[in-house]
Amino acid sequence: MNRKIITIFIIALFCFIIVLAAARSFFLKPSDRPPKVTAIPEGEYDPAVWGKRYPLEYASFQKNLEMSASPTEFGGSVKFQHSLRQPEMLTNFKGNAFSTDYTEDRGHPYALTDLKESKRITEKSPGACMTCKTAQIAGIFKDSGWAYAKKPLSELFTRAHYSIGCANCHNPSTMELRVTNPAFVEAMNRRGVDVTKAGREEMRSYVCGQCHAEYYFEPGSSRVIMPWDKGLHPEQIYAYYSQKPGGFEGDWVQPDSSTMMLKAQHPDFEVHSTGTHARAGISCADCHMPYMRDGGRKYSSHRVTSPMKTTGASCRRCHPEDEKMLLERVRNTQKSVWELQHIAGARIARAHEAIAKALAAKTVNKEELEKARESLRRAQWYWDFVAAENSMGFHNPALCLNILGQAIDLAHRSAESAAKAASASR
Ligand code: HEC
Ligand code: HEC
Ligand code: HEC
Ligand code: HEC
Repeated sequence: MNRKIITIFIIALFCFIIVLAAARSFFLKPSDRPPKVTAIPEGEYDPAVWGKRYPLEYASFQKNLEMSASPTEFGGSVKFQHSLRQPEMLTNFKGNAFSTDYTEDRGHPYALTDLKESKRITEKSPGACMTCKTAQIAGIFKDSGWAYAKKPLSELFTRAHYSIGCANCHNPSTMELRVTNPAFVEAMNRRGVDVTKAGREEMRSYVCGQCHAEYYFEPGSSRVIMPWDKGLHPEQIYAYYSQKPGGFEGDWVQPDSSTMMLKAQHPDFEVHSTGTHARAGISCADCHMPYMRDGGRKYSSHRVTSPMKTTGASCRRCHPEDEKMLLERVRNTQKSVWELQHIAGARIARAHEAIAKALAAKTVNKEELEKARESLRRAQWYWDFVAAENSMGFHNPALCLNILGQAIDLAHRSAESAAKAASASR
């Protein structure tokens, strides 16, 4: 009898445990269950293979193929030539490939195609250009170290078949975030930061900063270097370049003013890092890879584009204002930056012309001429730092407006010095 009760009790207890377990898995938000990690071999670069294991991330990643305008009218992924809206670029970039082809950026899957199609690429272009265009960079660097940077780009096209993908940002076996661009790791090391030991929040910006940053090619080796030894502010970077690091004097000579110029390259990381959001501990991924839900599972959107296409998910997590108001705030900032950028660019074009005029004069005051060139070079660097950055000032409005104000003043000073240099002949 007793035994029967015990047996029934045990069976009842057993059933109760099963029901409890079923209920737990029913009520537990699927998002709390981490996706099962199954190792993908190092050297697998096909996102479709990774996608079989991580279908939600892959499906959103595939949306990077869609091209659409942004409601701000500044961002977006529709290709257009920047010089159509800013004709001053034709003067300021004269003699540089950016004056012949400079289109708006689009989604990561297009990086390799756009590199191939860019008119800025010639048979002299170095392999270094591949650094930020392919998921295969980890393997390429492992095999040849920096030697790949000096090889002809055409040779690297025969090896790199996959555009930017999972392997750029993830360790395939653990799915932890990682940085694969060796230039970023080295530059951060010089600043005393060991990227391999960085915390999760930092990594959510570092994976982007490894490509969305200013760089130059070391003369001779074509090694990619990020010019951050003195800091990330445009004034500090200019001071670094003024020392002619490794014999690097500049990117090209503008033929009208015969001045050695610097070409800024998408300094999104630098501009963001010194702004309000970064100071509050907010990462690139917070806005550009917002959390989404699918059937209750929470995941990071891998559609990396303008956050203003997903304002609800990207901004409203922290800002309670309605979407229209947020868009208005972003556009107001961008409009002020756009206006000053346009003024600065046009003043700089005038300064190139003023120096050209001085050069045509019979005698020239050399000292004033050099002053004019130095002001012009600095003015153009400040203007281009904002123009080449991708958010039209949003990532750090205070910095962008300040630096554009300085660019306008420097352009005027350059033209004044050029006029003085020319008047020496009279
Ligand atoms: C607080 C939110 C926020 C953070 C943080 C942020 N961004 Fe942005 N980003 C924006 C907004 C807003 C725009 C403007 C988009 C537009 O005009 O459509 C933008 C624009 C861009 C663009 C151009 C997009 C396009 O449509 O052409 C790039 C590239 C970019 N950001 C990269 C980065 C990188 C890299 C970081 C980190 C270093 C970063 N962003 C951090 C909000 C953010
Ligand atoms: C440009 C960098 C980048 C690329 C490319 C990238 N990811 Fe991610 N991924 C991230 C970031 C950032 C997170 C957020 C990680 C965190 O917060 O810890 C993430 C998170 C994840 C996670 C964890 C779950 C989640 O959704 O937050 C998975 C799984 C994942 N990615 C899969 C992929 C796959 C598959 C691909 C290729 C199709 C890919 N990722 C490409 C940056 C990237
Ligand atoms: C391996 C280099 C690399 C990494 C890593 C990378 N990007 Fe990019 N990104 C690029 C390149 C190159 C383009 C331009 C592609 C083109 O226009 O063909 C681009 C384009 C973009 C765009 C424009 C897309 C559009 O729709 O207009 C945004 C936004 C962006 N990246 C943000 C980010 C963010 C945020 C991260 C980190 C989560 C990141 N990127 C990581 C190289 C990279
Ligand atoms: C993870 C939280 C977070 C996210 C996501 C976020 N913000 Fe912010 N935002 C902040 C914080 C914190 C501040 C600083 C507040 C302060 O200084 O009072 C801020 C400041 C701002 C400011 C005023 C400062 C400035 O730089 O002009 C604007 C405008 C703004 N955010 C817009 C946006 C937009 C648009 C998005 C989405 C693309 C966004 N934020 C996404 C937290 C966030």
